[in-house]
Amino acid sequence: MSDSKRKKVLSCIQPTGDMHLGNYFGAVKNWVDLQEKYDCVYGVVDYHAMTMPYDVKKLRTNTWDLLTNLIAVGVKPDNLFIQSLVPEHTELGWIFNCFCGMGELTRMTQFKDKSQKQNEEKSSKFISVGLLDYPVLQTADILIYKADFVPVGKDQDQHLELSRNIAGRFNHQVGKEYFVMPQGLHTETPKIMSTADPTRKMSKSAGEKHYIAVFGDEKRILKQIRSAVTDTGEVSETMSPGVQNLFSMLKASGATEHHNQLMDTYNDGNLRYGDLKVAVGESIAKMTNQFKANREEILADKRAMKDQIKQSSSEIRKKAQETLKEVKDLVGLVNVRY
Ligand code: TRP
Repeated sequence: MSDSKRKKVLSCIQPTGDMHLGNYFGAVKNWVDLQEKYDCVYGVVDYHAMTMPYDVKKLRTNTWDLLTNLIAVGVKPDNLFIQSLVPEHTELGWIFNCFCGMGELTRMTQFKDKSQKQNEEKSSKFISVGLLDYPVLQTADILIYKADFVPVGKDQDQHLELSRNIAGRFNHQVGKEYFVMPQGLHTETPKIMSTADPTRKMSKSAGEKHYIAVFGDEKRILKQIRSAVTDTGEVSETMSPGVQNLFSMLKASGATEHHNQLMDTYNDGNLRYGDLKVAVGESIAKMTNQFKANREEILADKRAMKDQIKQSSSEIRKKAQETLKEVKDLVGLVNVRY
C-alpha cells in the first residue's frame, strides 16, 4: 500500500536485450531492494530505445522480455509501466523542450559520445533529433511522477542536473514551486567487471565474452566463471582486479559466509583460485536458476503477465495525467475546464 509519507523513487531502463550480471548487481537488484522503503515506479522506456538506430522487429519483443525478466528477479509488477503506454511522458516532453536550451543538450557527454560513435559507424551515420532530445524526455519521465529520488549510475548525473534546471526554469516561469527537485540516489552497488578482461566493466557492447547473461545457459555461465582471468602472472601486493571481481560476485550473490571464509584463506596466502571459482559458480548458478524458474512460471501464462503490466501502466498513468493537467494549466494551454 502506498503511504503518503514515503518518499517517491522513479527509475527507468531501456529495452535493449539481455540482462547481464553487471546490470543486475549494479542496478536492478537495487530496484528490488528499494521497494521495501519507498514508493517505487519503474519504467521500461521504449521511446528512449528508438533514439539510436534499432530493429523495429525486435523492440516490442525486447520490451516484453525485459518486463518478464524484471518480474522474475523480484520487481513487483504493480510498480512497472511501459513508457509508450503512458503518452503523457512524450506530451510533457514537448512542453519541456520549450523550457530547455539547445546548448544544454549539445553539451551532454552522453550525446557527444553516442553521436561520435554513430559517426564512426560504417553502415549508418544517422544521428536523430531524438538522440539529442532524449534527456528532455528523461526529465519528463522523472518530473511527471514528482519523484524525490532517482536511482541511477553516475553516468546519468548530467541528465539529472538537466532535469533540475528544467524544473527550476519551469517553476520560475510559472511563479510557483510546482516541481520538486529530483535527487540522484547513488546506492553503493558492486561494479561487476568482465570476467574475460577484469579491467573493463561488464557490458554487452564489448562483445559476447564480456558479459554473463543472467538468463543464459547454466553451462555457459559456469564456463565463463571457470575461465575468468584471475591475475596476469605479475607478483603483486594487492589483489588483482580479476580476483577482486570474483569476490565481488560471490558477495553480491549472497554467499557472505563463504566469501569471508575464502577471503581469510586469501589473506593467509593459501587461496586456490580454482576453489574461489567453484564457489562463485555455485552461488551464481543457484541464484540464476531460481530466476530462470521464476521466468518460466511467468511465461507459462504470458497473457496474464501482459494484462497485468497493461493494468499497472494504466494505474500509474493516472498520476501522470494528473500532473500533465496541472502543467497545461500552469503554462497557459487551453484546458477542457475553460
Ligand atoms: N537514460 C537512462 C539510461 O540510459 C534511462 C532512463 C530514461 C532513465 N528515463 C529515465 C533513468 C528516468 C532514470 C530516470 O540508462
